[in-house]
Amino acid sequence: MSDIILETEGLTKEFRGFVAVSDVSLRVRRGAIHGLIGPNGAGKTTCFNLLTKFLQPTRGTIRYEGRDITGMKPAEVARLGLVRSFQISAVFPRLSVLENVRIALQRQRGGSFDFWRSETLLRAYDRRASELLEAVGLAGYEDLTAGELPYGRKRALEIATTLALDPVMMLLDEPTAGMAHEDVDRIVALVKRVAEGRTVLLVEHNLRVVQGLCDTITVLTRGRVLAEGDYASVSRNPEVIAAYLGTETPAHA
Ligand SMILES: Nc1ncnc2c1ncn2[C@@H]1O[C@H](COP(=O)(O)OP(=O)(O)O)[C@@H](O)[C@H]1O
Ligand SMILES: [Mg+2]
Repeated sequence: MSDIILETEGLTKEFRGFVAVSDVSLRVRRGAIHGLIGPNGAGKTTCFNLLTKFLQPTRGTIRYEGRDITGMKPAEVARLGLVRSFQISAVFPRLSVLENVRIALQRQRGGSFDFWRSETLLRAYDRRASELLEAVGLAGYEDLTAGELPYGRKRALEIATTLALDPVMMLLDEPTAGMAHEDVDRIVALVKRVAEGRTVLLVEHNLRVVQGLCDTITVLTRGRVLAEGDYASVSRNPEVIAAYLGTETPAHA
């Protein structure tokens, strides 16, 4: 097994002549929490959509587990264990928290609704659903409807439904976007926990979120890789500081 789980070469995406992602070569180490950061408009989400096959690149290749996945469909890469949060999982606001995770588990099995006739299987799903809810800090919230959850807890539920798909590598696009401070800290701790035994690629705007969380950070600006390294080195990099200053307040570091 190679040390590199995901690798892109010359990844490029153009939208009617506008280059949103330009010649990005990315190497993500197995087991790492890799941050892809940059100011607004840097091309992070476009990159994320390319990696999970929601967008087809204009040029370049993507290899996952040594296999060329450039031409694959989102569902195919998800079956290989490369899963984005909110991909197959959606949160159903009127269903309970427990039911949401149970449905995600049932989809993972690819089962028809016949499965529901088996009491034993149902109980097995409930057990696993409870474990996942516990893992994301939602024990005790099982019977609330998803719609009743506060915003930060909703993101935790989305992560639980993603975990139900048993990802080998998980991709998260700004999991803390729009959150209050205490929720941010909780999600950061949660990402750390779910990263145990898997690889995580975290797309993030806020440098503070990736501090202490990411082993390696790739900084994008205007679609290109500007810098790469650990938090200490990228946060000191004058070009990185200038890129953040050019748009808004810097790294809050
Ligand atoms: N579907 C699209 N059509 C045209 N331009 C797009 C499209 N998606 C993104 N862009 C442009 O590409 C650039 C990068 O966007 P995005 O990847 O969303 O950046 P980020 O996630 O880093 O904020 C932006 O200038 C954006 O306007
Ligand atoms: Mg974005």
